Amino acid sequence: MLTDFYFHTLTDMIYKETGIVFDGRKRYFVENRVREHMEELGINSLKEYIYRLKTDRSVLKEFISKITVNETYFYREYYHLKALAYLVQKEKLGFPIRVLSIPCSTGEEPYSIAIVLSEVLENPSNFEVVGVDIDVNAVKKAKEGVYGKRSVSKLPKEYLMRYFEQVGEELWKVKESLRRKVRFYEGNILDRMFIRSLGKFQYVFCKNLLIYFDDRARVQAINNLYDVTVEGGYLFLGHAESISRVSSLFEPVKVEGTIVYRKVKEEEDEW
Ligand SMILES: C[S@@+](CC[C@H](N)C(=O)[O-])C[C@H]1O[C@@H](n2cnc3c(N)ncnc32)[C@H](O)[C@@H]1O
Repeated sequence: MLTDFYFHTLTDMIYKETGIVFDGRKRYFVENRVREHMEELGINSLKEYIYRLKTDRSVLKEFISKITVNETYFYREYYHLKALAYLVQKEKLGFPIRVLSIPCSTGEEPYSIAIVLSEVLENPSNFEVVGVDIDVNAVKKAKEGVYGKRSVSKLPKEYLMRYFEQVGEELWKVKESLRRKVRFYEGNILDRMFIRSLGKFQYVFCKNLLIYFDDRARVQAINNLYDVTVEGGYLFLGHAESISRVSSLFEPVKVEGTIVYRKVKEEEDEW
C-alpha cells in the first residue's frame, strides 16, 4: 500500500514530531496504522491524508497516538522504585521532592512513584510527581486513573487495597488522595521551552523511550532533562537504555544494585 515516497514522507513527519525512528522493518506497522486512521477519517487518498496531517493538528495528534507504543504497567522495573525509595531516605536533595516521569504513557509509572513516596516519606505532603507524554489519548487515560487487571498485576495487593477503589469487575480507580499528588501534561521531551516550564526535579524517570530515538534525538532529550534536573539529581533509564555513549552530562552510579545516572556538576565558565 505505502510506496517508498509515502512511507518516507510519513516517517519523516513522525521523526520531526516525536524523535521516533521507523525503518523499513516497521513498514507494516506504519501501514496498518495509516490504513486504520484513513478509514476512521473516511479518506481514501494518501495525498489527501498527508494534507490533513499537515494542516490539522488534531489529526496529526491522533496519528501520533496511533503509532506510539504505550506498553507500561504498575511496578514495572521495580528495582528502580526500590532505588528511588533508598535515595529519598538517604540523600537530602531538598523539599518538596519533585519527580518527573517522562514519558508517563497511561500513568502507571508516575502513580507507582507516588505510591512508593507515600510509603517511605514521613511527611507525604512533601512530594509531587509530574507525568508527561506526547500521546494525547494516553494522557487522558492517565488523568482518569482507571486500570484493568493486566496493569495492576505486579502491584502488591496491599497497595491495591490502600490506594485504589474498585469501580467494576477487574477495574480499579486510583483514589483521589493519590491522584492529587500527580499532575499530567501532554508534551514533547524534545520541546525545550515546554520541558523548562515544568520547573526543577530531583529525580527524573525517562524509561523506555530513548530506545525508539536516534542519537541526535537522544542527545536533545538528555540536554533537556539536564536543564530540569537539580544539581546532584538522578536520572532513571530503562534497562535497555544507556546514555554513556552519547552524553557525559550524567554519570552512571550504582544504587541498591542497579544503575542510575547522576547529574554531573554544571561547569562554571572559565576565563
Ligand atoms: C513504552 S512507553 C513507556 C512508559 C513508561 N515510561 C514505562 O517505562 O513503562 C513509551 C511512551 O513514550 C511516549 N513518547 C514517544 N515519543 C515521545 C516524545 N517525543 N515525548 C514524550 N513522550 C513520547 C509514547 O507516547 C509512549 O507512551
